[in-house]
Amino acid sequence: MKILAFAASGSSKSINKQLISHAADILKADIIKDAEIEILDINDYEMPIYSSDREEAGGIPDLAQQFATKIGTADALLISYAEHNGNYTAAYKNLFDWTSRLEGKVFQDKPMVIMATSPGPGGASNVLAMAKTSAPFFGAEVKADLSIASFYDVFDVENGQLKDADIQAQMRTVLAALK
Ligand SMILES: Cc1cc2nc3c(=O)[nH]c(=O)nc-3n(C[C@H](O)[C@H](O)[C@H](O)COP(=O)(O)O)c2cc1C
Repeated sequence: MKILAFAASGSSKSINKQLISHAADILKADIIKDAEIEILDINDYEMPIYSSDREEAGGIPDLAQQFATKIGTADALLISYAEHNGNYTAAYKNLFDWTSRLEGKVFQDKPMVIMATSPGPGGASNVLAMAKTSAPFFGAEVKADLSIASFYDVFDVENGQLKDADIQAQMRTVLAALK
């Protein structure tokens, strides 16, 4: 089973990327042992800010097609969303907008588990709710979702793993939905 995982963040120090790496480790070690997990960096798909003028002038950049192909060749998706002002990060939204110009069903009927974390008490739950509500319109089946609040209180950054046993158990339950 091929799983494509990424953090919807443009930060090189992304806490959502740290979370997704940990989730990938758990998935492979204990849940889907034959999983082939690719962790993609959305910074490798950076494009000019979307505008209809740019699209008319130059078409859709190849990077959008490359991102869509990555999704298309996966059996399932694992995404962790960073929240900026209650919304998607500009980096992810731009990638999503360009990709949606190829095919409205950006997620190409893949099952997915979605997560979100932030340093604050909200746990990026606004963006997670937005992603969950909109997913069916973009051809995704959200199997489970998890918001993790107060990232630095519950995550051991040095060792790259959740130190809170209850939250780690919640993460295992959510990941098992990909089986
Ligand atoms: C412009 C900006 C807006 C933010 N807005 C929110 C917000 O609405 N909700 C939230 O929980 N955190 C917010 N944060 C804090 C982010 O959750 C925090 O920077 C987190 O590290 C982002 O995830 P990432 O490290 O994976 O990129 C904001 C941060 C920035 C820089």
